[in-house]
Amino acid sequence: MKKLFAAAVSLAMLGSLTACGADSSSSSEKSSENSSSSSVYIGDKTIGISMPASELERWNRDGEYLKNQFESAGYKVELTYSNNDPAQQNLDVNGMIKNEVDLLLIAAVDANSLSNTLESAKESNIPVVAYDRLIMGTDAVTYYISFDNYAVGRLQAEFVKNMLSLDTNPATYNIEFVAGDAGDNNAKCFFDGAYEVLKPLITSGTLNVASGKTEFDQVATKGWTSENAEKNMTETLNTFYADADLDIALCANDSTALGVTRAIEAVKGGSKFPLTTGQDGDIENLKNIVDGKQAMTVYKNVNDESSVAVDVCKAILSGNTPAASLVESLSAEVNYDTSSYNNGKKYVQSYLLVPTVITKSELQFLVDTGNYKWDSDKKYLEKS
Ligand code: BGC
Repeated sequence: MKKLFAAAVSLAMLGSLTACGADSSSSSEKSSENSSSSSVYIGDKTIGISMPASELERWNRDGEYLKNQFESAGYKVELTYSNNDPAQQNLDVNGMIKNEVDLLLIAAVDANSLSNTLESAKESNIPVVAYDRLIMGTDAVTYYISFDNYAVGRLQAEFVKNMLSLDTNPATYNIEFVAGDAGDNNAKCFFDGAYEVLKPLITSGTLNVASGKTEFDQVATKGWTSENAEKNMTETLNTFYADADLDIALCANDSTALGVTRAIEAVKGGSKFPLTTGQDGDIENLKNIVDGKQAMTVYKNVNDESSVAVDVCKAILSGNTPAASLVESLSAEVNYDTSSYNNGKKYVQSYLLVPTVITKSELQFLVDTGNYKWDSDKKYLEKS
């Protein structure tokens, strides 16, 4: 069932920021200037898609799904991957602006480094949609398509709480946090969502953070890479867990969880694994879930996310101003939200999809999405 949260924005919170109502009119101006009429032949329209990196499994999936879906809808697509390098992404996006794409759909490498480039997009009347990651410090962004990022962190923390019955269990558990890249706005949301749930248990002493690292900046993982997560966790284990077990690794996503699992195997011998969280449903992590090395992943159906993005972009290019009513026509469960994601310039109108917890006993759910299949032994999952 679709839920609709056309959330009210408190005037007190707005301060000098642009109100979303005021901004939506400017976005409609931009989009209507950009598309002369809804009868325009869409084969003439090109979507510029800028993805952060092909090295991380999920962005390949996003890039592939987005390209296929836009092309099936009759659009041309210019797709780039920026090697996780903000300078490269600025070059890529500038190239698309020079090529006069009709709309930019961007998953930022670094939330804060695109504002100058996007000024040129604005001057050229090219609408900009932030995909999965919010772009900060610019009013050029008109819409944000993502999952509820705070909910992802909350689901990871609630999972840990429930698995260990932390509200009633008198034992003390050692926990470490592993967050994502500090330049990705989502990384802070995931961390905040999880920390908010677990903080009372840290305060009460049920959870013990032996490293003392409870601030986002202390646990961020550069580039979200497994290598950096492994390196950081190896140091943490050697320094703080020489004579103790790590019971919980609250990892923000699967690439960081993979690094943590490798560190545990190397430093601790790999006979016992902490309760490790993740996000994305990456193939190697799903294998680790089957093998008992990782406890869960938060699944975000990227196929749904890309189809919502396609629908919002199509509406913009037809001269419409997507708003709350659009969710009724979307195929996925989506919340329209105008008061959660402030990029420092304004609250960005957001379409937020709903994430799902997946454990070993729920792998069939992934197969049912059509995005995965069982291997020939029906033991592990593969990409379908
Ligand atoms: C995405 C996650 C992903 C991470 C690393 C985040 O912005 O929301 O799904 O795991 O980036 O690529």
